[in-house]
Amino acid sequence: MIRSIAANRLRICGGRKSSPILAKLPVRQQPQSVGAERSYVTGYQYRSANKYSSVAALDDEVRSYDTIPEDVMELVEEYCQKKQTPVSMHALVKAGRHSADNDNLMRNGSLNQYSSASGKVLIQAANFLCDELPVRLAHRINDLDKVPFMRDMPSVQLVKGIYINSFVDLVRYGSIATNEDEAAFAHFLNKKYEKHANVLIQMARGAYELRQQQNDQVEFSQLQDCHEFLDRFYMSRIGIRVLAGQYLALRQTPLPDYIGMICLRTSPYELVRQAARDATKMCQRKYGEAPEVQINGRTDLTFPYIPTYLHYILLELLKNAMRATVERHSDATGRALPPVQVIVADEHDNEDVVIKVADVGGGIPRSNLKKVWSYLFTTADPKIQEDFIGDRDHDAQNSPLAGLGFGLPISRSYARYFNGELTIMSMEGWGTDAYVHLARLEDPDQEFS
Ligand SMILES: Nc1ncnc2c1ncn2[C@@H]1O[C@H](COP(=O)(O)OP(=O)(O)O)[C@@H](O)[C@H]1O
Ligand SMILES: [Mg+2]
Repeated sequence: MIRSIAANRLRICGGRKSSPILAKLPVRQQPQSVGAERSYVTGYQYRSANKYSSVAALDDEVRSYDTIPEDVMELVEEYCQKKQTPVSMHALVKAGRHSADNDNLMRNGSLNQYSSASGKVLIQAANFLCDELPVRLAHRINDLDKVPFMRDMPSVQLVKGIYINSFVDLVRYGSIATNEDEAAFAHFLNKKYEKHANVLIQMARGAYELRQQQNDQVEFSQLQDCHEFLDRFYMSRIGIRVLAGQYLALRQTPLPDYIGMICLRTSPYELVRQAARDATKMCQRKYGEAPEVQINGRTDLTFPYIPTYLHYILLELLKNAMRATVERHSDATGRALPPVQVIVADEHDNEDVVIKVADVGGGIPRSNLKKVWSYLFTTADPKIQEDFIGDRDHDAQNSPLAGLGFGLPISRSYARYFNGELTIMSMEGWGTDAYVHLARLEDPDQEFS
């Protein structure tokens, strides 16, 4: 039987070494006199001795950083020396299966039995995350601090603050040895997970601020570093959220066919239907009408995948297809709009599951075909972005049909993260075909960075 690399690593990482720098720092000491200049890290010495209250207190302290504080920088540099550990989805499924199998108990018994049965795996996973996440965060903090242009944007500095906050808290996190420790860590991580939920929109704001500042004067090619930075940033964010999300989901009562976030019987057809319903609502809200979505091909297919991510990709593609269709074909005569066609393709020995979303919405000019993969490009009304991004507390549920400019690049990052691909073929003057290639997650050889 194949023993996954990550599962081995989970074991290896069981006992976490504390950082030599942190060892010097007063962790969880009794409160001392307040008043001296406090640095971010050493600020801890003023906090309560209560094991987790320091974490809660820090949570309120997210702030912007134009430069990384010196003592944090030392730590960031230390962690940047470490390589991040790739994890195979197979390992994550295995870890979950292990706990799920033992937890036949759960169906008959109590949640306590469930906890104790899966406790060991969860403790290993928690220790792995507590080691691994700071390494990943450190690389991003370093990147956020160095990226030209973007580094000066207020929203990017706030994101840096969120990352620094989580990084320091994770580095300082104590040992996780018992079930109680593990439960406390899950609670802590869940709060961090929530805290990072709006990083996507924060970074979109950063891109918007940059565009405003540059007054759209900068050539796209000059922003190559920014594009590469954003690709790295989002790719890494997906990795972090998959790892943390899978661990947190494994702690929930399992749903039928689910292992953590992975659904062993993900149905592309059902997800297209859901995404079509969502996109239709958004399109109708914007234009008062929406094209029909026709789904053909392997409508019966199910395969292991994380439905949330596939839904995200499909929703972005359908929103784009609907917008293009309405903008090209809507007229006063009330003629039906040409439908958006979705095809699901798969045969027994196919390498990938492939989904095509095709519209006849007029296509994309060849000169724009490269730009559509930029987080800084949209042809939607700039007012949309101003309204949405300018409002700090905007509800992401009410996101606009188009205009933020990152639907395609983020979707491609999701597809690529799971070893798939997203490509766009376009016939200017006719329409656009988007192809999503999805690698099967059950392949034991696949690793995710
Ligand atoms: N199906 C499509 N038909 C025509 N143009 C498209 C299509 N999909 C994407 N585009 C072009 O690519 C741009 C970027 O798309 P996207 O990344 O989804 O951001 P947004 O939709 O917020 O503008 C769109 O503004 C549009 O100009
Ligand atoms: Mg879009």
